[in-house]
Amino acid sequence: MKLLVTGGAGFIGTNFIRHMITKHPNWKVINVDKLTYAGNLENLAGLKGCSNYRFVKGDIADNSVMEALFRKGIDVVVNFAAESHVDRSIQDAGPFINTNIAGTFVLLQLARQYGIQKHIQVSTDEVYGSLQGKNKFTEDSSLGPNNPYSASKASADLLCRSYYKTYNLPVIITRCSNNYGPYQFPEKLIPLVITNTLENESIPVYGDGLNVRDWIYVADHCRALEAVIQGGQPGEVYNIGANNELSNLELVKQILELLNKPEELIKFVSDRPGHDRRYAIGWTKIKDSLGWRPAYSFRDGLEQTIKWYIEHPGWWRRIRSGEYKDYYRKWYKGVRN
Ligand code: NAD
Ligand code: DAU
Repeated sequence: MKLLVTGGAGFIGTNFIRHMITKHPNWKVINVDKLTYAGNLENLAGLKGCSNYRFVKGDIADNSVMEALFRKGIDVVVNFAAESHVDRSIQDAGPFINTNIAGTFVLLQLARQYGIQKHIQVSTDEVYGSLQGKNKFTEDSSLGPNNPYSASKASADLLCRSYYKTYNLPVIITRCSNNYGPYQFPEKLIPLVITNTLENESIPVYGDGLNVRDWIYVADHCRALEAVIQGGQPGEVYNIGANNELSNLELVKQILELLNKPEELIKFVSDRPGHDRRYAIGWTKIKDSLGWRPAYSFRDGLEQTIKWYIEHPGWWRRIRSGEYKDYYRKWYKGVRN
């Protein structure tokens, strides 16, 4: 089995590759990543010298780079590569359109040209938009993205769907809820709260803090993708979640409590434009059809995650002192107060 993993130097891709290399030593993994601000080869340094792993620096939207890889034969594509941060998409949607839509188009075209067993499009619950009432998203929920990031992901999902319907390309779409765990870039809520707290810096909470997200430990998402590679059916969509709905405020308070820090660190700031009020994902289909279910409780996953950030201060301090510093100043000090 030859797996092409795109965006493997990012948060979920890193966790996925580490899982697959250990679990399937006979599979070959090629990781193609553009190494944007979010890509970090340090995450995979331990794999140097592994005979079943290879890294290629490249942009999925660059047809010639990608064609060179497809020409040698690929069985399964797992497309993680994306611009993934909603706030950055609000500042500049351009890179989101290029990577998330045009990049996916390049992969689909090459898959058609060279043939593959499966293209797995790693998508998000955000494509469904914001929930009202007590219901959850199902695979049949209509798409209603509300920010440029989720619109770009929904666009890619529709392209994938069309390639299955029109060309019978074996495409599968997965839509997962909010991930957390080791190696997550500290612009995202959970690592931002952990690292700011460890540095005794204020914690910016958007709006009234009552927006709800549905959290899943990243290892559970990786196992779900493994199940989809092995048993997922072409043309299908699989939602992935873990029944952990929390308001942002509840979540921040849990982290402060675990780190034994005062709630006075919380600072309410102006809201994110187009801020979805609630996500909650129903995942009965993947449970019933592929036998997958999450293994981590939210509390266990959160404790593991906090432990990881405490034990790897060099990893996040290096990030926080680089490009991220300018981004943070511009976004929070300039716009969000
Ligand atoms: P991330 O931002 O941590 O990593 C993205 C990776 O893609 C980085 O390594 C980056 O260098 C790479 N990349 C960006 N543009 C590229 C390009 N043009 N060509 C090649 N590589 C490129 O993102 P993540 O949180 O790991 O998310 C991975 C995927 O999972 C994304 O597609 C995202 O939409 C999806 N997803 C994320 C979550 C979440 O909670 N983080 C939930 C559901 C789905
Ligand atoms: O739902 C899946 C999505 O989860 C993925 O598709 C995205 O790639 C991923 O970034 C994530 O999107 P969110 O917008 O939900 O994640 P983020 O960590 O940016 O924000 C989580 C919640 O916390 C959201 O309601 C906004 C709020 N927030 C975020 C930040 C960064 C704050 O209140 N303060 C902050 O400083």
